[in-house]
Formats: sequence, structure tokens, C-alpha cells
Amino acid sequence: QTDIPSLKDVLADDFPVGTALVPSDTLGEKAKLVAKHYDSATAGNAMKWDATEPVEGQFSWADADTIANFATANGMGLRGHTLVWHQQTPAWVFQRPDGTPLTSSAEDKALLLSRLENHIRAVAGRYAGRIYAWDVANEVVDEGEPDGYRRSRWFEVAGLDYLRTAFRVAREVDPNAKLFINDYNTEYPAKRVALFNLVKLLRAEGVPIDGVGHQLHVNIERQRIGEIEKSIQLFATLGVDQQVTELDMSAYTNFVESYPSFPATTMAQQGIRYRDLFDLFDRYSSQISSVTLWGAADDGTWLDTFPFPRRDDPLLFDRDLQAKPAYWGVADPT
Ligand code: XIL
Repeated sequence: QTDIPSLKDVLADDFPVGTALVPSDTLGEKAKLVAKHYDSATAGNAMKWDATEPVEGQFSWADADTIANFATANGMGLRGHTLVWHQQTPAWVFQRPDGTPLTSSAEDKALLLSRLENHIRAVAGRYAGRIYAWDVANEVVDEGEPDGYRRSRWFEVAGLDYLRTAFRVAREVDPNAKLFINDYNTEYPAKRVALFNLVKLLRAEGVPIDGVGHQLHVNIERQRIGEIEKSIQLFATLGVDQQVTELDMSAYTNFVESYPSFPATTMAQQGIRYRDLFDLFDRYSSQISSVTLWGAADDGTWLDTFPFPRRDDPLLFDRDLQAKPAYWGVADPT
């Protein structure tokens, strides 16, 4: 498909458009598709804690370097994802040297925060100067808690100090990266308010949070433009940058069904929804400084295994790397 317009050209006046990558995406036909259409790369897994520091003090950079170097070689920007999360974090992080769990004692808390600081110095330090935005903190809000703070091991041991430490250290080691707090369901009213309150509190203390990341894992029905718009407007009142960080649009509307393939009508509906979504992003392009898809084409979607193994086709290009109605909804929204 050499004849279709490049997404990044189509969106050049609005914002950079990115994709999540796994190392194999940097090879063959997929690499050509990525280099043609996307001007930003996020490592889908390779910069997470379990990938970069599986054992304390022992770092593995091969996959992260593959993605970072591919981005650099193709003139793409790089988003960092992610420095502190409750998932894909090795068990040792939350254990004492004897293997027992860390508690909220002052000693255990100091150990956890020093591990966090060492990790960020190593990871953010390695890519410093090449990353335009870091998801410093991922999914730390839980609107079901009275205070809105997720009861992760991070929070149980260190309260909100893990966030204060993470942002402070990230700013110190990579002062040119915009520092983000990233979350899913940010278009839901209770989640939106919980995240807003946390960002407001921390920024008032001087914690260097520059932006809010909206993951936007939506589906072809549950894609409420008006609610997304309200969230963009609310965070704009804080004066923070905003990015769409993990956009995909499941072809399912529930966590139960499973199909071997989708009818053309479903993919056409998805195209209309993508068009409406990018129309919104376009109207708010002064607030949104990048939009990243969570995968370059349907053969690389995490939704083939989440929430359980089933085929899903949530992205702009199909499994043969051909443009879908979803692509045309973005590239030719007429
Ligand atoms: C996903 C990856 O794409 C999968 O390969 C992995 O098995 C699980 O994590 N929210 C996030 C991302 O912030 O890091 C997740 O990525 C998808 C949900």
C-alpha cells in the first residue's frame, strides 16, 4: 500500500501520531508500515520494570534499545512507558532481602523508595534526552477508594511518597522529558474526578507533573465522545499537557463474546467511531500534544489475549497490514 496517504502527514497540523511497538515490529513489512505512518514510538512492554530490571541491580536493555534505536533511525519521537506501575513489576521490589513482604515501617518504606529511585535513575537515565514524554506513573487511581488512591503495594508501603519520589527523580535525570501520570477510563466521571484531585494536590506541592495521559482503550459502542470531551476540558483547567497514550477500539462491546472474525459492517462502524474520535482530538489539538495507538496493526494487538484469548481487531490496519475503514475514518473523514 504505497498509494495511501501517510497518517502522520494527514495529522501533521494537529499532533504527532504514535504507536506502541514490540521488537519484532522493527523488522520487515511491519517496520515499513510503522516508519511510513507513525511519528512516535512507545515500547509496549520493553521499558517496564520486569523487562528492564528483572533482578535487583541487573538491567537488560536489548528490547528497549531495539525500539529506541528504531525510533531514532526513522526520525520518530519516543514516549517512555512506564516507570512505576502495580503490574509487570518483579516480586523482589516489594520484598525484604529475606523474602518477606515489605511493610509500611519507616525502614521498609525507605528501602522501597531507594529501589524506585535507583530504577528511575537507570532507566530514565539511559534514554535521557531522547524521550519527549515519560509515563512516570501508570494506573495509580482507584475511584472505588474514598480518597481515590489505588491500594497497590506501592501505596501500602509508601503512601503517596512513591509518586513524589518518582516524579522528582525523573525530572532530575531527564529534565527535558514531559512527565505524565497515565490512566485508563479517564473519560468516566468518578475516575476523572479522582485523577483530577490527585494531580491537583501533587502539583500544588510542587511535584513536577506536566501532563495527564488518557489511555483510551475504548470499544465500538462504549466510546462516549461527550464524556471524553468533558475530561479534556476538566484537565485543561489545571493547565496540564494532555496526550492520548494507548488508543484502541475493541470490536466487542462486552467481556463475554468471542468471534473468529468480524463482518464488514462491524469494521465500518469502527471506522465511523474512529472518525468521530479524531474529529474530537482535532477540535482539542491545542490541548493534546500527541495521540498514540496501542499497536500498529491488528496482528499486534494486546486485545487478542485480554481479557481472555479471542480475536480482536481494534486498530487502523488489518492483519495483512492493509488499511481498514478505521484508517479511512482518520485519514479521509468525509
Ligand atoms: C499491555 C501490553 O500491550 C501487553 O503485551 C502485556 O501483556 C500487558 O500490558 N495499559 C497499559 C499498558 O498501561 O502497559 C498495557 O500494555 C495495556 C493496558
